[in-house]
Formats: sequence, C-alpha cells, structure tokens
Amino acid sequence: MNAVYEKLNKCYEAFKQKVDFQPKVAIVLGSGLGDFASSIDVACELPYSELEGFPVSTVPGHAGKYIFGTLEGVPVVCMQGRVHFYEGYDITDVVLPERLMGLMGAKVLFLTNAAGGVNYNFKAGDLMLIKDHISSFIRNPLIGPNVEELGTRFPDMTEVYDRQLCSLIQEAALEQGVALKEGVYAQFTGPSFETPTEIRMCRTLGIDAVGMSTVVEAIAARHMGMRVCGVSCISNLAAGMTMKPLSHAEVQETADMAADSFKKLVRASVKKFGDILE
Ligand code: HPA
Repeated sequence: MNAVYEKLNKCYEAFKQKVDFQPKVAIVLGSGLGDFASSIDVACELPYSELEGFPVSTVPGHAGKYIFGTLEGVPVVCMQGRVHFYEGYDITDVVLPERLMGLMGAKVLFLTNAAGGVNYNFKAGDLMLIKDHISSFIRNPLIGPNVEELGTRFPDMTEVYDRQLCSLIQEAALEQGVALKEGVYAQFTGPSFETPTEIRMCRTLGIDAVGMSTVVEAIAARHMGMRVCGVSCISNLAAGMTMKPLSHAEVQETADMAADSFKKLVRASVKKFGDILE
C-alpha cells in the first residue's frame, strides 16, 4: 500500500476505535478562532497525540485536538490547531489531518486562517472570503505516488472554493452584519514573513492576502472530492505597507480582536451549509 495512504488509514482506524461520530462539516480553526469550540455542543474530543503518526503542532497558540459536536444542529469536527510546512513536516503530513476529516465523512471543509493583507483596500481586522488561491510558492501536497483511493492523478482546480458555499457565506455575512471582503489568497512557506518586494510581486500577480497555510489543505481536500470554502482574518497589512515591522504577536492580537465577528460568521455559515447538505 502507498505509504501516505497507509499512515492515513492507520489514523482512521485509531479514530474509529476511539470516536463514534460522523461529521458533515469539517472546520479548521486558524488564529483567533482557537476558542471557537465554546460555541459548539461538544460530543467528544480527540487529542492529536492519541493518533499514531499524526503531526502535532509546535507553534504556541496551536494546541492540537479534534473537537466533535453539533453547531446549529449540524454535526461538525473542528481542528483546534493545525500544522504548518515551516515546522518541518513532509507536505503529505501537513494535509493528513484534513484528509482524515474527509475519511470521517465530512463533505465540506471550512478553512480559516490569519493572513497578511496585500490589497490596499484591506485593513487589519477585516475578514476576507477566499475566492481562489495561488499555490505556486508552496510544495504541492499531491507530489509523490498518487493515492488512487482518494482521487485522481491530475485533479481539476477550476473551482477550488465552492461557488454555492461562497454564496452562503456572503449571505450569512449580510444577515449577521459582518463586513466581508473577498479575494485571492496565496500560501508561502514561511516562517519568515515576506519582504516588501515580495509583497509588491504578490500585488502584481493579483494576490489579495498571503499566509502560511490553507492552500495545500484546500488542494488535498479537492483531490478527494470534498467541497471547500475559506475565510481569512486580515491580521496585519503585509510587509512594506506600513512602517511597522511584522510580528506573530500582532497577528495573534488582531486575530483575537476580530474573533467575535469571525465566530459569528462561521456559525451562521455552517447553519446554512446544514440546510443544503442532506
Ligand atoms: N504574511 C504571511 N503570513 C501571515 C501574515 C503575513 O503578513 N500575517 C498572518 N499570517
């Protein structure tokens, strides 16, 4: 068996031994959404450390566990804490957690993150619906022998961010009175922030926000046929756009400040997803 699939399967078997829950929507909680679990009717939790081979995060503020429960009546699994490529994991390990949520039965993957704003119309604290992405600056998570059990060798990426889910998120934002920008997200490896020139390059390429996650997760999820959507919290304006040097502390602080509207938006969106998923 393909080594990547074997590891994934082992994690799935361990999950089945420990948890009896079938999620419909999988949510990855980025910076600022860490305490989102408090809005969920929690059924059970599964620390990543209980799954052999599962990548466990080393970043402060990214404590790692799956949380299972219902949100507005919709069965969900939330990832509290994700791993990043810059931590040194193989890219296939970085996306293992999302693939596992797909195997658990989740039809939808809702990605959230903190990102640097590249678009001059953005300000720190804005929320941005991800309409598309650029993956050219990160290793593709599908490199290596194709896992035929999950999907095809050359998956189509014409509509990574599901049009219907995007519309529902926009409706939810309107109804909740949450301002929602939209744009293109690009993933860089990190962990260093970009230079001002790299950010100018991004703007030239049509990129609205940059971060160090999400794109590889979206690719792996689309590969296996999950429907994907995502929202970024613009935690700072990117390098060179202000006089201030960038810091992880600022990212965390702004993300925390935007947390209330971010949580409101995710909750209202998931409720709408529940109405369209059978
Ligand atoms: N660049 C890259 N990743 C980020 C940033 C940024 O400015 N802000 C939050 N994550």
